[in-house]
Amino acid sequence: MTDVIGYPCCSILISMTEKILNPELNQMSATAIAHPNIAFIKYWGNRDEMLHLPLNGSLSMCLYGLTSTTTVRFDPSLKADELRLDSLPADEISLARVSSFLNNIRGLAGKNLYAQVESVNNFPAGAGIASSASGFAALALAASAAIGLSLSEQELSRLARLGSGSACRSIPGGFVAWLPGSTDLDSYAVSIAPPEHWQLFDLVTILDRGHKSTGSASGMALAHTSPRLGQRLAELPARLAACKQALLACDFEAFAELVEADSQSMHAVMQTSTPALKYTLPLTELILASVTSWRKQGYAACATVDAGPNVHVLCLPEAKSFMLQALHAIPGVLEVLVSQPGGPARLV
Ligand code: DP6
Repeated sequence: MTDVIGYPCCSILISMTEKILNPELNQMSATAIAHPNIAFIKYWGNRDEMLHLPLNGSLSMCLYGLTSTTTVRFDPSLKADELRLDSLPADEISLARVSSFLNNIRGLAGKNLYAQVESVNNFPAGAGIASSASGFAALALAASAAIGLSLSEQELSRLARLGSGSACRSIPGGFVAWLPGSTDLDSYAVSIAPPEHWQLFDLVTILDRGHKSTGSASGMALAHTSPRLGQRLAELPARLAACKQALLACDFEAFAELVEADSQSMHAVMQTSTPALKYTLPLTELILASVTSWRKQGYAACATVDAGPNVHVLCLPEAKSFMLQALHAIPGVLEVLVSQPGGPARLV
């Protein structure tokens, strides 16, 4: 392990902090918890694939009750990084991704030590909730603490972004904006309102537990091939500003229209990419249409879909019991997980 300092991102990251807490560390282990997040205005496409510098800013909410809990232990006796995911040894691809992420942290700390990483999600795998966001947020926090770095929230968000773009939005709590920036230094997420700002439920409606055939990273690398991308990017600044305003004003009607428009716009880019990506199922479309029609009948609910078939139904407290009962009554709905705004990533 000679080249960790030379890892491409390290020179950039080293500039962000020199704050090594305790150089005589004997306790090289830490555990962190982070929540996944659901994007209201989506991230789909990068200006820089490696640094995850996004084409546009995005807006999200951390999901309370759903967690990734990650323990990292740096150990001088290890000959390679080790990774266990949900109590099983991880596959080679996941291990390589985590190992390459840890290179950033080793570079920052100036320590060539391998780590044992254990990460557990309390939500079902393949539930249509991006475990990479909560996973890399928890890993960034646990690994940096374990190796003795004390990073600010902004620095942690930048670091988590290198693992998975949306992970930068799982570092701050509540309602979060990812400021796209133009370099590694200014692309990070900030909280725009605490969890208690708005009691918005996310009813995560699971239709399919299978893993998607095209992951987000390779899917969004195709965004540039879509003739619809230009229109999406042109519309985004106004939609992002309006959505943020609706969120801060707790204006559900305006919020709902903007969230649904953005989800449709992202899926239009996916479906017109070469090769075309279709993440939704006929049942996904049926639920989206049903939610829109229930809203027209007066229920405060709207729906958004990430890179998979499952539907996130966002609703206000007064609509929750109707929505739960209506969603459960749809044949093919396997499960509905109930979440609401959650807090920031934290050490335990
Ligand atoms: C559709 O952050 O998972 O959920 O940076 O390659 O790990 P990588 O991608 P990821 O992409 C998330 C895409 C999305 C939309 C969103 O959450 O904004």
